[in-house]
Amino acid sequence: MVKWYTRYLEVVVPARAWRFNSSSRHHGHFRRALSSVVERSLYMRHVGGSNPSVPTMIFEEVVKKRQSTRSYLPKKVPVGLIAKMLEMANLAPSAGNLQARKVVIVRDEEVIKKIKEVTSGLGRFSDNIPLIFVVCAVPEVSAVRYEERGRNLYALQDATIFASYLQLAAVSLDLASCWVGSFKERRVSEICNLPENLIPVAMIPVGFSNEEPREKHRKSLAELILKRI
Ligand SMILES: Cc1cc2nc3c(=O)[nH]c(=O)nc-3n(C[C@H](O)[C@H](O)[C@H](O)COP(=O)(O)O)c2cc1C
Repeated sequence: MVKWYTRYLEVVVPARAWRFNSSSRHHGHFRRALSSVVERSLYMRHVGGSNPSVPTMIFEEVVKKRQSTRSYLPKKVPVGLIAKMLEMANLAPSAGNLQARKVVIVRDEEVIKKIKEVTSGLGRFSDNIPLIFVVCAVPEVSAVRYEERGRNLYALQDATIFASYLQLAAVSLDLASCWVGSFKERRVSEICNLPENLIPVAMIPVGFSNEEPREKHRKSLAELILKRI
């Protein structure tokens, strides 16, 4: 078993990675082969720091592939993928590791319909949204240690970093999503029956994409960087 595992790590995985890097023709094939999260994590563990270009490529692919997706295929998101997304996002950092965040998983069509009615930010979406994560901050958790800064800032950051990871985790599993910030907080709290101490800060609809990749338009690094000190 150990022997097989070592051979897998030393020969099979790097060989596949080499194909990934060297041939775009095999890209689709390889990506499917590597899409198993287990395989990816085994590979990441194997290459460690010895070949940093490969893991960077994989991350870069995920970051570049993420785009706000508002049209989804009429296909449910399997429970296993939901769990995987959450496991990955749950590794996001948080102030003092207090993880002042909660997430509501909304799959019920009726509830999604109600959310759509009070969410102007979902206005450009197709009718079928298979899944929405309602990401909430829990200010009081962060306030215990960090007082006002925890209550007003860190809890929001804990939740939004989580949401950001969620979006990247979705891409890594061949899913697509969109950040939705424009909604009536109070109404969403009522629909989801949230406890008073939770603030819904972002909604992340997720599904299988029904959109073509788009070019990204971003400010140049020269515009981004304020100064070098
Ligand atoms: C804080 C925040 C709020 C957003 N709110 C909405 C929204 O309410 N509705 C929507 O369709 N997109 C929303 N977006 C998505 C942005 O429009 C999108 O990220 C931006 O245009 C860049 O496009 P890209 O994500 O495809 O790279 C939001 C994004 C962020 C980060």
